Amino acid sequence: MSDERDTHELPTPSLWPIGFAIGVACVLVGLVVSVPVLIVGAAIAIVFGILWIRDLFTTRPAPAAPGPAVAPEPRTATVADLAAPVDRATFLSAATIGVGGLIGAAVTLPVLGFAVLPSFEGDRVKTHDVNLGPITNFPEGEFVIATFMDDPDEGEVSRRTAFIRNNGRTDAGVPSFTTIYSRCVHLGCPVQPNGPIDESAKKDVNGVELRPVLAASFGCPCHGGLYDSEGNRFAGPPVRSLDRFEFSIKNGDLILGRTFSVGHVEGTGAKAQISRYYKAFPGVHVDGVERILYPIPTPGSTG
Ligand code: FES
Repeated sequence: MSDERDTHELPTPSLWPIGFAIGVACVLVGLVVSVPVLIVGAAIAIVFGILWIRDLFTTRPAPAAPGPAVAPEPRTATVADLAAPVDRATFLSAATIGVGGLIGAAVTLPVLGFAVLPSFEGDRVKTHDVNLGPITNFPEGEFVIATFMDDPDEGEVSRRTAFIRNNGRTDAGVPSFTTIYSRCVHLGCPVQPNGPIDESAKKDVNGVELRPVLAASFGCPCHGGLYDSEGNRFAGPPVRSLDRFEFSIKNGDLILGRTFSVGHVEGTGAKAQISRYYKAFPGVHVDGVERILYPIPTPGSTG
């Protein structure tokens, strides 16, 4: 009576699983650090995974018959070999790996999704247009503090502040406004204008509070972040310039739209050149080599 365990040939050691594991590790790191690392990891995992599977199905030579030792000739499986019935040990190996992979994916993917995906969603502050009233409420060359509710349905929790300055017109004749969002880009504290506020000239327009201010710069009371009148950081821990609101003018009214992030502002007023980026969390670099080195929001940063 024959015993299969005695005659079955053990698989030869392979490096493909190690390469596959390195690829999976790169995918996991890439999910946290950056998309290019994720793509490279996925490519490594796919290539080594295919090689590994191919290795499992490669036909191995039968045990050598008694007699003079002859080096067996390894050969790669052909299509016909792959279509042929596989032996029990190969089937069990492949099934174990496949089922293990499915269980691992079922357990880890939901956890990764909840843990990592919010990092890629960006910051969703400001989704509603806000009408700040006639542009005549904004004297040229002066800052006005505009305080409003982003979404009245959400109530006070959606209250925002913008520092608005009418810059007149650009060289092309287009109205220009500096529209700085007050949230500090270090950890999210409310930035204050450095200069006297004219409370006697306070206005309420469509539920928006407008207060003129002589602001030469902006300061953050939390950790001493300082920004110039264009919102560029010039002291303290903030990592980029202050965010801004998109704006438009409709029927003579100034309308604030979504917020966006700013790397740096060159020039001032109507001549300012703004390096604009998708909305990022406070504490996140949007440009330069730091963008690659420090892609994760600072713990504790708030919207
Ligand atoms: S939160 Fe503004 S400097 Fe830290």
